[in-house]
Amino acid sequence: MADIVVFGGDGYIGWPLALELATSHPQKKVLIVDNYLTRAHAEALEGGSLLPIRPLPERVAAYRDAFELDNLDYLELDCANSDQMTEFMRSISPEVVYHLAHQRAAPYSMLGLKECVETITNNEVGFLNLIWLLRDYHPNCHLVKLGSFGAYAKAGLDIPEGNAVMSCNGKTSAGPMPFPRASDDFYHITKINDGNFAGLAARKWGLRVTDVMQSTVFGAMTDKTLADERMHTRFDYDEILGTVLNRFCAQALCGVPLTVYGLGTQTSGIMTLEHCIAVLVSLADAPCAPGTHRIINNCPKVYSINELAEMVRLEGTKLGLNVKVARNRYNPRFEDGVSHDYSVETSYLSKLPDPMPMRLAVARSLEVLGRHRDQIRVACVEPRHDWMGTGGAAQAEEPVAHSG
Ligand SMILES: NC(=O)c1ccc[n+]([C@@H]2O[C@H](COP(=O)([O-])OP(=O)(O)OC[C@H]3O[C@@H](n4cnc5c(N)ncnc54)[C@H](O)[C@@H]3O)[C@@H](O)[C@H]2O)c1
Repeated sequence: MADIVVFGGDGYIGWPLALELATSHPQKKVLIVDNYLTRAHAEALEGGSLLPIRPLPERVAAYRDAFELDNLDYLELDCANSDQMTEFMRSISPEVVYHLAHQRAAPYSMLGLKECVETITNNEVGFLNLIWLLRDYHPNCHLVKLGSFGAYAKAGLDIPEGNAVMSCNGKTSAGPMPFPRASDDFYHITKINDGNFAGLAARKWGLRVTDVMQSTVFGAMTDKTLADERMHTRFDYDEILGTVLNRFCAQALCGVPLTVYGLGTQTSGIMTLEHCIAVLVSLADAPCAPGTHRIINNCPKVYSINELAEMVRLEGTKLGLNVKVARNRYNPRFEDGVSHDYSVETSYLSKLPDPMPMRLAVARSLEVLGRHRDQIRVACVEPRHDWMGTGGAAQAEEPVAHSG
């Protein structure tokens, strides 16, 4: 029935991950499970993917045509529905399951009470269903879950890969303990809680859990998604679902100044979609030992927001676009502009090939997205929501426009 399950396989990362898993493991059956939650949110927010995306039946048919393989299938199911999940998990015998089925937009979780409760319920009930059902039916299965780098407390301390011996007020912990987590939005708090649930499932039930603490992912494509236009992955660019480089690319393509929140000196880890997929696929054949909650830090490079804007400006200019940058016009997250100085242990990454340079991913994405630039909804690319309640979404001061 299914050797590898990708929960959340209709999503931005999940779809190219399923494609890569299926093509690299043609002897294994790969099953996508999704309930189209992100598609529903994008529609309700009047955003939507800039690259046209097909429903799962058409995507899977395109895979079969393009790669002449029939080892990829899909199932519509809500992970947060305990009855549906129990019936499903009893019916399969997977070797590895990937859990990506989250409401994954921090701004969405801050929109209001309804969206916050929906995020907490969807993410935490869905994950609890999965670990309890793995415990009951598939205790030897390898669970790969997506954590987020944004869940780590940033206090100038170097971030270990896994636990570390900690000191406080001159006393040292009796053994290694998890690095502190902290978050300023409810979505990341679900990631923190999931990490605790996963630790318990490994320690107390003997499950094998790999937790990939990854930074933001960017890129409109992988080589596989470009093989047929029915296999595009989604590309959100509105202020709620679109991450920073996505918004900058859309703004560059439709001639709106890039909205750098605050002064743009704040930093963010960003990696290419190809690199994200390569790390996740490598884990299919590298299970951790039973009873282990293995942490992998995937944050290959950190950029200031100004550096990212400049990259889009330079690559956009090469394509003949007139790209302007507006700094400090909006500050919906109340960015303080401080870049924290810390190093990150990434021993697992050192075993893998170097990632594609971000500049190249920006250039290739602008080219692919440019074919759909007339579909950009300009109303979506300017921030409208004040998601910290600070008044920051309102225009901070006179807009500062720079052409370089
Ligand atoms: N994109 C990033 O930059 C990034 C960075 C760090 C971590 N992550 C994590 O990676 C994972 C995938 O992110 P993405 O960017 O592909 O997001 P996405 O929203 O595009 O994909 C998530 C998928 O899960 C599905 N889903 C959500 N709840 C579900 C449920 N209850 N039942 C079934 N399906 C459900 C959605 O419909 C969607 O297709 C998430 O866990 C996210 O938190 C993403």
